[in-house]
Amino acid sequence: MALDIKCEIVENRFISGITWLLRLKAPEIAKEAKPASFVMIRGVEDYQYDPLLRRAFAIADIDGDDILIFYDVYGKGTKAITEKKAGETISVLGALGNNFFPEDYDHYVLVGGGIGFAGLSLLMKDLKQKGKSFTAIYGVRRKEQLSMLDWIKENGFENDVIIYTEDGSYGKKGLVTEDLEKIATKHHNTMLAVCGPHGMMKAVANLAKEIDIPCYVSLESRMACGFGICIGCVVKDTEKDSYVRVCYEGPVFDASKIEL
Ligand SMILES: Cc1cc2nc3c(=O)[nH]c(=O)nc-3n(C[C@H](O)[C@H](O)[C@H](O)COP(=O)(O)OP(=O)(O)OC[C@H]3O[C@@H](n4cnc5c(N)ncnc54)[C@H](O)[C@@H]3O)c2cc1C
Ligand code: FES
Repeated sequence: MALDIKCEIVENRFISGITWLLRLKAPEIAKEAKPASFVMIRGVEDYQYDPLLRRAFAIADIDGDDILIFYDVYGKGTKAITEKKAGETISVLGALGNNFFPEDYDHYVLVGGGIGFAGLSLLMKDLKQKGKSFTAIYGVRRKEQLSMLDWIKENGFENDVIIYTEDGSYGKKGLVTEDLEKIATKHHNTMLAVCGPHGMMKAVANLAKEIDIPCYVSLESRMACGFGICIGCVVKDTEKDSYVRVCYEGPVFDASKIEL
């Protein structure tokens, strides 16, 4: 059940590029969250109306009672969050999302583009804890956008993640799709889990179709309410020939069944 609560901010700091890390004391949300769960956050007081709407963020990690969020700063909603200090409280709605990554595969290939990697990091941790086999791919344009690199190192995932930068400034040079066919076809009963910019998700889903491997996308459509009432986040379900809400029927979908 999603809760609308005030959470204490444990930490809120700039990391690199345009990314910040927000650590919140949120035991109720931490208990409910699953890989791909997200929260909606409003960085201003209840009596303030600008920005009016909450912003959606993936729960990137759970550490005891705390949840971690890595957020890129673009506009009013995220700028307001940067102004909040440790010790203050912030308005959080979550954990949200009703459809998560399937669990019955033997090998998982996780493909995260930019801050989209934060939409897969909890899955990576979950797979590791369950002793499941996986390969993670993290792609960005340039080194300074690798805002989850320290998290990867601190959590002992260095050998599990293949990093690509488009300009070759860190890891392998190229796009996340560079060696994807080879990686995805190496093991039997593999599925792809993808989160990131729309074009990247589409490219990965197209490749998955060509090589006949199931591909699940965690979508990050713009959201207003986050819990199914505004119909602002829909995508076309091509199988049912109708529309589904990313926040409510998602955020994870079988890429072959929706219009990307
Ligand atoms: C389920 C879900 C999970 C998400 N998880 C994360 C996450 O973990 N970390 C994270 O950083 N973001 C995440 N997002 C995206 C995040 O919600 C948006 O980036 C955020 O709402 C932007 O708010 P803002 O106030 O910065 O920008 P706004 O004030 O809403 O917009 C300002 C300007 O920035 C542009 N803009 C807004 N968002 C983006 C974007 N994502 N990319 C490029 N341009 C943009 C707008 O078009 C506009 O021109 C997620 C979204 C969803 C739906
Ligand atoms: S954001 Fe309102 S229905 Fe999805």
